[in-house]
Amino acid sequence: MLSKIIYCGCVNEKFLNQSVEINGWIRKIRKMGGITFLDIADRYGIVQVILKKDCSFDLTRESVVNIKGKVVLRKNPNKNLPTGKIEIIATDISLLSKAQATPFVIEDDFVAFEDVLLKHRYLDLRRYTVQKKIIFRSNFIHALNNYLIEKDFVHIETPILAKPTPEGARDYLIPTRNGRNMFYALPQSPQIFKQLLMVAGFLKYFQIAKCFRDEDLRADRQPEFTQLDIEMSFIDENKIMSIIEDLLKTAIKKTMGMTLKTPFARMKYEQAMNCYGSDKPDLRYDLQLIDLSSFFQKTKADIFKKILAKKQVIKGFFIKNIVITNKDFIQIKKYGIDKGLTSFYFTFKDKKCLFNSLNKNLEREILENICQKFDFKNGSLIISCGPTKEVNETLGACRIKTNDLYKIGDDNNLCFVWIIDWPLFEYNKQEKIFVAAHHPFTSPTRESLSTFTTDKINAKARAYDLVLNGYEIGGGSIRITDPNIQQKMFEAINLTQKEIQTKFGYLLEAFKYGVPPHGGIALGLDRLIMLLTKSKSIKEIIAFPKNSHGMDLMLNSPSQVDPKDLNDLFVKIK
Ligand code: AMO
Repeated sequence: MLSKIIYCGCVNEKFLNQSVEINGWIRKIRKMGGITFLDIADRYGIVQVILKKDCSFDLTRESVVNIKGKVVLRKNPNKNLPTGKIEIIATDISLLSKAQATPFVIEDDFVAFEDVLLKHRYLDLRRYTVQKKIIFRSNFIHALNNYLIEKDFVHIETPILAKPTPEGARDYLIPTRNGRNMFYALPQSPQIFKQLLMVAGFLKYFQIAKCFRDEDLRADRQPEFTQLDIEMSFIDENKIMSIIEDLLKTAIKKTMGMTLKTPFARMKYEQAMNCYGSDKPDLRYDLQLIDLSSFFQKTKADIFKKILAKKQVIKGFFIKNIVITNKDFIQIKKYGIDKGLTSFYFTFKDKKCLFNSLNKNLEREILENICQKFDFKNGSLIISCGPTKEVNETLGACRIKTNDLYKIGDDNNLCFVWIIDWPLFEYNKQEKIFVAAHHPFTSPTRESLSTFTTDKINAKARAYDLVLNGYEIGGGSIRITDPNIQQKMFEAINLTQKEIQTKFGYLLEAFKYGVPPHGGIALGLDRLIMLLTKSKSIKEIIAFPKNSHGMDLMLNSPSQVDPKDLNDLFVKIK
């Protein structure tokens, strides 16, 4: 009788006493007496195989084999293995590919240097913990696709060889053989294309889009990453936010079985900065920043007198029921030191001050008045003083460190929040110019439409960011569609007429032929999936990521190229 070919992880009691055939990798080899026990693995799991005879070839871990045999019940079942009730008694084993010793052991909890793992990423990807994340990614993206297609969105691919896109990072440039000094740029996002698709009349567009940005890398940044990019016509901010909420609710329910509470919270940018010291607040824990300046009006301590005289602020946050240690405080306050700010803490019990790290002649009553006023009974208060922006940013970073140290927030929570009411511009101190806070296609609010060129500091944008557990996982806006306003916006960010024409002339022209009001959003899929899979870095959920220097260690890329190729491209290396 012909045996059935089955995936290793799928062999179970249904096949008891039947002849089966499996293919897989030898994950483990154990010899006992004349018998060899093999763990044979594939994507679906591991099954135990018993070899009672000698094998005609050398058995090595990770070799690929084909095995025929009979499924029997195990004498000692293994409860930790889905296939643990059965085993296969091999009648035949053949070698499909011999593996030499791998640079690290293919086991879920084996610890190896990141460089080694990345160099042999195909082996790292063989581990179940890693594979699970990549498979989750596939399922999640499938659920997003399904939802959008059902809602009549059209998936449209846009060019990769394109023109520079203004998303705030450096472009990756691609020289061409077709012309001297001519370069394509890889898209930082499909922003302009998706707007042109609205001009073309597609009404609802989406794309799982590759984006490329040359910027300093962090745990949540890669030089190439994936967005779920969306654009819609005849829409407003509320509709876009509610579609995204429903999309995420549906995909998370489908892939994780979890029910999200919608609508998500909304918070104004200013409130986020004032109360959480960040435009991407982690709301899994409270630790809100409070302005304490008024309590210090009558202090004799010079340090605070000076701060208040300069109209600067004294702010802090309260950590309930935790008495922090000096050692931890050194880690927490580091952010303030970087910004030249003074930070200190005090601990208290029953609203009485136990310890004050400033140790200056700071009046206890002031600290105790604070406790009374806010009904802080036991715990610690971290305080920082200086210019408002720096104090907010410092305490924002201290909040995060405090949570890292004391695990105040619930790791299992998904706290989504929309940040709204954004400034239209950001001041670039180094270049002394205003730049677009999002990108220059973002519409000013109705109230700012007539003043945004003259009052840049107060101009507001029709923009929204989606934040999850302290990470920006998406951003979008309602766009400018009036060519005159778009022209003024380009001028407001100091583009010359020549730059406007060469960089964006085609967009301004398109807007002359009938453009629907439109808006959209892009979700950073890597960041979102990193958070949903509780990964520490987006590298874990990208099949072939770059390291923190933007290098692909497996390909050894970027790498030098043949001088002849450079010559063909008219490129000279300095
Ligand atoms: P934005 O620049 O905010 O908006 O990008 C959208 C989202 O993409 C993710 N992201 C990244 N993820 C990994 N590595 C990176 N280097 C990286 N850079 C950004 C973030 C971010 O929220 N065109 C606009 C969208 C729009 O207006 O519709 C755009 O790209 O999660």
